Amino acid sequence: MNSEAFANRNILITGGLGFIGSNLARRLVGLGANVLLVDSLIPEYGGNLFNLSGIEERVRVNISDVRDEHSMDYLVRGQDYVFNLAGQTSHLDSMNDPYTDLEINCRSQLSILEACRKYNAGVKIVFASTRQIYGKPDYLPVDEKHLLRPVDVNGINKMAGEWYHILYNNVYGLRACALRLTNTYGPRMRVKDARQTFLGIWIKLIVEGKPFEVWDGHQLRDFTYVEDAIDAFLLAAASDDANGQTLNLGGERVISLHELAELLVEVNGGGEFVHRTFPADRQRIDIGDYYADYSAIRRVLGWAPNVPLREGLAQTLGFYRECLPHYQ
Ligand SMILES: NC(=O)c1ccc[n+]([C@@H]2O[C@H](COP(=O)([O-])OP(=O)(O)OC[C@H]3O[C@@H](n4cnc5c(N)ncnc54)[C@H](O)[C@@H]3O)[C@@H](O)[C@H]2O)c1
Repeated sequence: MNSEAFANRNILITGGLGFIGSNLARRLVGLGANVLLVDSLIPEYGGNLFNLSGIEERVRVNISDVRDEHSMDYLVRGQDYVFNLAGQTSHLDSMNDPYTDLEINCRSQLSILEACRKYNAGVKIVFASTRQIYGKPDYLPVDEKHLLRPVDVNGINKMAGEWYHILYNNVYGLRACALRLTNTYGPRMRVKDARQTFLGIWIKLIVEGKPFEVWDGHQLRDFTYVEDAIDAFLLAAASDDANGQTLNLGGERVISLHELAELLVEVNGGGEFVHRTFPADRQRIDIGDYYADYSAIRRVLGWAPNVPLREGLAQTLGFYRECLPHYQ
């Protein structure tokens, strides 16, 4: 990794008080970057001021909403890099309130890109996309050539948000790329509920000594530890080879949710879970088995996940044993 790429550079992170954004901010501060975080702190989403604990004095924070075009027109100016992570992440919420998801995950992405085109055409943008846009896989592992066939409103809007970035790269010469994240986990994830990921609520309950629920359990998934995801964001930002590309992230192993629950209990040194059938509203938008083929990003940027699941879970449990009250 070319850490020099970020020293004394101006960096905007949208969604910077959230799980991945704040971990990214911590890394960038360590690399000597001038970091500006933009976040709306809408309570249902993953933003949390405690995520900045220890770096409060070393970043600037602007509490604003990416839906506000006037703010964005101003905030993108003078930035060398934009890490575009602000998003509504709940699949179920996107079904219950499709218009908010549309505004944030689709329309705002266009206005962020318009702001860059008008006021900062030289910027490099890395967009946080999602594996959700593939829908139920036709084959495994899923590579970037797989058909995009989202199963929920969130997937459709994230797909559009992603493609606006690629379009602006191709047509206007902004340098943009998208990373299609799979389940990402680690310290500072939202654990209050299952809005961000079911693993969040599992971790909260096991740390509290309460049983957690595994729905079905046969589903195969891959998990990226947040520090590995951040490596990918930095590599994608620093390399022009990534421009115009949509690249899958993946996990170091494939695991069923039942096995994951067992591993979590083992790493925690105890705990209980119960099996439950899938609630109907979730079943309708579930993607079944998924795991990514991440050979493209390995080829283009040399990225591969490094942190074993067992170790990542241990780090995450350690963080929440200490800090859970700040995430309730
Ligand atoms: N965590 C994962 O497993 C995962 C998987 C796939 C994709 N992603 C994508 O990565 C990005 C970051 O996700 P995360 O897991 O850190 O979630 P997160 O909810 O912790 O972070 C998103 C942040 O965006 C902020 N935000 C939401 N709407 C906003 C708005 N209108 N204006 C300004 N800020 C707003 C939220 O307050 C939150 O802090 C998201 O775009 C998400 O879709 C995450």
